[in-house]
Amino acid sequence: MDLSVKILGLYFENPLGPAAGPIVEGLENMLFFNNNTCGFNVAKTISVEGAIVPKPCIAGTSNTIYNCELWSELHSDVWINEILPTIHKDKKKPLIISAGYKEEDFRYLIPKLDPFADMFEISTHYVKENLAGIVKSIRENTDKPIFMKLSPHVDDYLGFVKTVLDAGATGIVAINSLGPGTAIDLDNRSVLLAEEIWMSGPAIKPIALHRVYKIRKAFPDIPIIGVGGIGSAKDVLEFILAGADLVQMLSAALIKGRKLYGKIIADLPKALEKFGFSSIEEIRKIRKETIFKDIVKAVDNYPSFNEKCNMCGLCVRICPAGALSEAETIIVDKEKCIHCGLCESRCPQDAIYGVLK
Ligand SMILES: Cc1cc2nc3c(=O)[nH]c(=O)nc-3n(C[C@H](O)[C@H](O)[C@H](O)COP(=O)(O)O)c2cc1C
Repeated sequence: MDLSVKILGLYFENPLGPAAGPIVEGLENMLFFNNNTCGFNVAKTISVEGAIVPKPCIAGTSNTIYNCELWSELHSDVWINEILPTIHKDKKKPLIISAGYKEEDFRYLIPKLDPFADMFEISTHYVKENLAGIVKSIRENTDKPIFMKLSPHVDDYLGFVKTVLDAGATGIVAINSLGPGTAIDLDNRSVLLAEEIWMSGPAIKPIALHRVYKIRKAFPDIPIIGVGGIGSAKDVLEFILAGADLVQMLSAALIKGRKLYGKIIADLPKALEKFGFSSIEEIRKIRKETIFKDIVKAVDNYPSFNEKCNMCGLCVRICPAGALSEAETIIVDKEKCIHCGLCESRCPQDAIYGVLK
């Protein structure tokens, strides 16, 4: 199975890489991703001065990561003089360097980072004004592809994309963490981590997919890197079908461990086969004719049950209309059924069909 992606004259053995965060902070982490099976490497957001991060700064649940981390805690000199030259000497895959945040930072940083970067990814998480000026200050200092990273708190995200493209950016990374939010620590009778925390991981996947999908629909030809909530090979395919060319993952690896990158890449051929694709490039080619078609008006179908039903009763308990009941088989009350599809989506046995598909 061909997992490769070719964009912007660069070859990616597969579409998955790490997202900017603690997992790509410092030399040891960067070497891990240079040497593992990921399709590309990413450097944690570098600014001129290292960030001073209040600790603790990361907490996790089974499907979410909360954080109040900032950019790299290392001074840019450490990246420029030590980490990036070491990676460059034995570079095994394309390297995306994340940088931030202000015009004066970029005028200083970009020329120094440029020899090591295949592409730039620019965090706009703390940018409130002068977006076009920021992009121009980067473009004046590099010919490399510039990906501007969209934060989900930007309401006019299509306006954001137009502004950065007009100013000289090449593509978009969507999305950064969602927020600000607050989590409560009852034991300590306080907020958890900080008053303002940012949320990521599987819980934010639909928001990330929404931005990728809508941006792809409005800008059919720009390169897009999808990120937010990815945790499986199926998720990777969903992002590619929604419009991404490459994808990144962080939080699922913070929740489950970094071996997850290798597992997802190893699982990709089987996932492609399961959904009837022969390669990642094929999904990129056909998505225009499939996912962006107008949605066919729904028909009012009733759920049907196949031989996999083991009468666990979950569908009966969750039906919002009370339309299902247990006898020898599951009985559908056609007067009550509202054709919503919830039972089919939640069936753990994959035993219900006919409403959603
Ligand atoms: C602990 C932590 C630190 C992060 N640091 C950065 C960063 O330095 N720069 C950046 O652009 N995004 C940063 N992010 C956002 C991630 O790169 C990513 O966009 C977001 O977490 C969504 O992807 P995920 O659900 O796979 O984690 C950070 C996220 C987390 C959880």
